Order: sequence, then C-alpha cells, then structure tokens
Amino acid sequence: MARTLIAGNWKMNTTLSDAISLSISIRDQLTLPPDTEVVLFPPTPFAVPVRDAVRGTTIKLGVQNIHNEESGAYTGETSVTMLDGICEYALIGHSERRTLFNESNDFINQKIQACFAHGIKAILCVGETETERNEGITSQVITRQVESALRDIEGIERLVIAYEPIWAIGTGLVPEAEEVNHTLGQTIRSQIKSLYGTQASEETPLLYGGSVNPGNAYTFAQADHIDGVLVGGASLDSAQFVEICTQFTLDS
Ligand code: 13P
Repeated sequence: MARTLIAGNWKMNTTLSDAISLSISIRDQLTLPPDTEVVLFPPTPFAVPVRDAVRGTTIKLGVQNIHNEESGAYTGETSVTMLDGICEYALIGHSERRTLFNESNDFINQKIQACFAHGIKAILCVGETETERNEGITSQVITRQVESALRDIEGIERLVIAYEPIWAIGTGLVPEAEEVNHTLGQTIRSQIKSLYGTQASEETPLLYGGSVNPGNAYTFAQADHIDGVLVGGASLDSAQFVEICTQFTLDS
C-alpha cells in the first residue's frame, strides 16, 4: 500500500515574507494522521527560509525544478547537489516546464536519474492536453511519458507520480474521480508493475493534480488508486490547503 502524500506547488508566487508566513500558517494549523506526508514546493530562493519555518515538524520540502548536472556553466539553474540538507523532493516534468521551457522526455529522464543518484525523491508529473483527451489517446500519451521518464532508473522507491491533465490545471475543470482512478490504476500503476515489479507498483504514491480544492478533495480521496493530490492555486491559501489535507485524510 502506498503512503498518502499531499503536495502544494506554489509555482512562481509569493514574496519572501509571504512564503514564510504561508508556511508558518500551514504549520500551525496542520494535524496529520500517521503515514501521511505533506510536501511544500516554494520557489527555490525561499526553500531555506521555508525549511527553517517548518523545521521540527513532519512537513517536508521540495523544489519545483532541478538540473541534471552537478555543477558547471548552466546559468540560472539549480543542481541536486545544492539541495543537500535543504530539501527531500523535486518536482520533475511539470507540464508548465514541458510546454513553456521545452523540456523533453529525455531531459526529464536525466533529471530523475540525477535526483535518485543523490537521494532526492522525485514527483514526476505527466498529463495529456485537451486535444489529446478529445482524440481518445490519453492512455498512449501517459504511457509514453512514463516509459521515457523511467528508463534505466535505479532507486524506484524514491518515485512519486502525479497525473495532471493539462486542461484541468488552473481552469476549475476536473475529471471524474473514476476517470482519474482508471488512468492511475490501468495505465500508470500497471506500467510501473511491468517495468519494476509488483512491490514498486503497489508502493509508489500516485497523485492527482488539477484544480483540486476543499470541495473536491474528499471525492478524489475515495478512489482506490489516488494516494494524494498535487495542489496549485489552493495551496497558496493556508486555510484551503489545510482543509484539503483534512478532507483527503478524513477516513484514515
Ligand atoms: P491548480 O491546482 O492551480 O490547477 O494547479 C495544479 C498544478 O499544476 C499543480 O502542480
């Protein structure tokens, strides 16, 4: 059985003081059942102050992107080695990085390899566009993304996968929980099983992301294959984010 994981992706939002007060406010309101992880993904410059704000609690920290090389002439990039002692997680292959920054499946694969080689856990993001969904090729698109991202991976126990349909991100549109459950179970979990075996497929947390809010979190929590959620907009409001965590873990 996979652990429950609820993550907040702040994207390119907050100032330094916003980031500190948001993390303190989440910290002070949150109570979690055992075996549940909450991970905050602030903008990289605020990783250290947010780490300090949540130090001593069960809240974990991640960055929204990394580069696969350890160091060198990569202006503006952050390497995994720089995260040592700062955070435990990295988001890899978010659709905004794939589309706005042309990240390829190969590059995403290299980033995951770099994370695992340095003990960083990766939340791999996958998802189809609206056109691909309408064409009925969601499963093929997700299969291709997962397959290429997970090529030659060692350290599969550090993997989390977030299924984020691009048409659901920031739009207020959400798929039915049953549809998400089908994609996670029939496409993603069965693919992990065929690539890395039964234990990996059962223990890899699979998340849903895209317009998650306090009103729909409970429905997603009821689905067998949805182990958690990756929250964007609603994670910038501490009360909403904490309520999502509460709704998601109500029956734990
Ligand atoms: P929203 O929750 O704002 O739709 O964003 C989802 C997302 O992209 C999280 O990574």
